[in-house]
Amino acid sequence: MELDPEDEQILAGEQGETRRKMLELLVALGKVFGAERLVPIRSAQVSGASYKTIGKYGLDWLSSLNAKAVVPAVLNPIGMPRSRWQEMGINPDFAKKQQDVIAAYERLGIQLECTCTPYYLYETRYGDHLAWSESSAVSYANSVIGARTNREGGPSALAAALVGKTPCYGLHLAKNRKPQLVIDVHADASSWSIADFGALGFHTGKFVGNRVPFFRGIKPDPDQLKALGAAMAATGAVALYHVEGITAESQKIQYDLSGLEIITVETKDISCLFKEIPVEAVAVGCPHCSPEELAEIARLLSGKVVKKPLYVFAAQGVIVRNKAAVESIEKSGAKVYADTCMVVSPAMEQYHSIMGNSGKALAYVPNMCGGQARIGTIADCIRVATE
Ligand code: F3S
Repeated sequence: MELDPEDEQILAGEQGETRRKMLELLVALGKVFGAERLVPIRSAQVSGASYKTIGKYGLDWLSSLNAKAVVPAVLNPIGMPRSRWQEMGINPDFAKKQQDVIAAYERLGIQLECTCTPYYLYETRYGDHLAWSESSAVSYANSVIGARTNREGGPSALAAALVGKTPCYGLHLAKNRKPQLVIDVHADASSWSIADFGALGFHTGKFVGNRVPFFRGIKPDPDQLKALGAAMAATGAVALYHVEGITAESQKIQYDLSGLEIITVETKDISCLFKEIPVEAVAVGCPHCSPEELAEIARLLSGKVVKKPLYVFAAQGVIVRNKAAVESIEKSGAKVYADTCMVVSPAMEQYHSIMGNSGKALAYVPNMCGGQARIGTIADCIRVATE
């Protein structure tokens, strides 16, 4: 792999032991995947932030590192809101260990935003190279924004944050970003909700696997694209997709679709996922809510009182910048939490069935929270929580 003089300096240990080890990790990864060089990144998003996932050994490893991030870097959602964990019923022992993990990352210069939507916090532009970890964030960055990131593991994203570079392979290269199959949606999707697009992603992810699909016949807005990509990355391993005339590269590049497999999706493939099972709690914000989604929830909750627990999840920075909507939501008795989510928080395991508007949660809640999952529109979620 081609290394520049600064890389050589780091490998010689001139910028400290941690940075040397981190670059060695990136170079080893690059060699495995045939990268010819490292590429500078604009930002990093680091997974492995929940104590539940990394445990004592992960925490010991983080504590042994001594360097500072050289690019903006945030964390993936953790098991609890940093400031309101008692209110969510989190065990104090777990909270203490989770706080130790957060402190270890803070010492490494990682910003204490724990979110799967870093694109709402930091400017991320077409063509930027990134080292992001969380699958829905990776999908959004690649597809909606047209930035370039592989789906990093926790250590490789952290190494990239501390070095400022990542190996240039996979989705960093234009040749790997071309469509590999076409999905024709034969349905009137003009009135589809975010949940419908989540359901489309849930359905299509199962047969797309890790290929790059090119959708025709839909015109999703950014929140609907977020839902589509998140669900496809959950039931499949889709890290990049294109939507004709809508997603970033599709607007700039004329892809040759001749000879590609074509799969058709019809309304019934989506509608069959909307089953009306009874639910104990409602949770919205998977991926974390946008300002527009918070405003919509506030509007739907106006003048109402929740009768079932209603959780709303968003990035701390988004919550702070949309205070009026958040206050209005909480007036109903619903809770708006930062830093965590319905899937990673142990607090959600107390419910046997959870409703949301997310195709990703439909896939993950049964496996990771042990309960049943139901999908419905945001309006349905609010109706179920307040009736
Ligand atoms: Fe984000 Fe948690 Fe869903 S990380 S995409 S809110 S499972």
